[in-house]
Amino acid sequence: MSTHPPVETSTTHERLPMTVPGLMDRKRSGEPLVMVTCYDYPSARIVEEAGVDLVLVGDTAAMTVLGYDSTVPVTVDELLVLVKAVRRGLRSPLLVGDLPFGSYEVSDEQAVATAQRFLKEGGCDAVKLEGGGVMVDRAHAIASTGIPVIGHVGLTPQTATAVGGFKAQARTAHRALNTIEDAVALQEAGCCAIVFEAIPAPVAQLAMEQIEIPVIGIGAGMSTDGQVLVWHDLLGLYEWGSPRFVKRYAELRPEILRALENYAAEVRTKEFPTSEYTYSIDPAELEELRGLLG
Ligand code: KIV
Repeated sequence: MSTHPPVETSTTHERLPMTVPGLMDRKRSGEPLVMVTCYDYPSARIVEEAGVDLVLVGDTAAMTVLGYDSTVPVTVDELLVLVKAVRRGLRSPLLVGDLPFGSYEVSDEQAVATAQRFLKEGGCDAVKLEGGGVMVDRAHAIASTGIPVIGHVGLTPQTATAVGGFKAQARTAHRALNTIEDAVALQEAGCCAIVFEAIPAPVAQLAMEQIEIPVIGIGAGMSTDGQVLVWHDLLGLYEWGSPRFVKRYAELRPEILRALENYAAEVRTKEFPTSEYTYSIDPAELEELRGLLG
């Protein structure tokens, strides 16, 4: 395995690190914010080089990386391993850790303690939690301790079962109103940004009129201040289809499969490794070795 330390190459863009106040500056400037999920060190190096603004170690890791059926089972300890790996690979983007299901809902104290772990142990710049209602209090508690917190409304995968599964939200006037009210409450609670997931674009547009903090959309149309996509979705790393709101910018799964199949075939036919991929030894040393071996 190649274990070279990070090298700043000439292709690495020089840019100032994104900050929480910087998010507001970007909103004011109108330049969209680019966010992507990321779950490991080599991917973080690529994200850094690509010039992304925010990186989310999402609890989607439960499904994309750890193979769970939903985001519910993933633990703080499991996510922190991934967060730390991503942290080691990042310099400029704002690193956001997703508080997993069961790690913040019970009390303000639980929410603050978990958020602190993401900063202290994981090196995150901010945390994200899902939902409105009582989660507004949790967001407020976290923000009050000086930890930047990002809200998340619309489709909230941790509680997807309660809202009828993984499907678009806010599709009736009353549900849309609830979503907008949750977003406004999260803003008032001190969130530094909000994610809008899987809500109709016109609803997002109306919500934007009420929201002063940066809003990052995923399946919420063009009116938000930025977009986020999940790494495995945007790179086409699944064998199954993607939600409607995903644009696949690459189809890497077939590429990876082809590479592995070629590798397996070449190992089996002994086409790999040829001398090009092997080390040599001075013939005199080899002769001496033969002698030593008798
Ligand atoms: O966990 C995650 O990846 C997310 C994004 C879908 C925003 O919350």
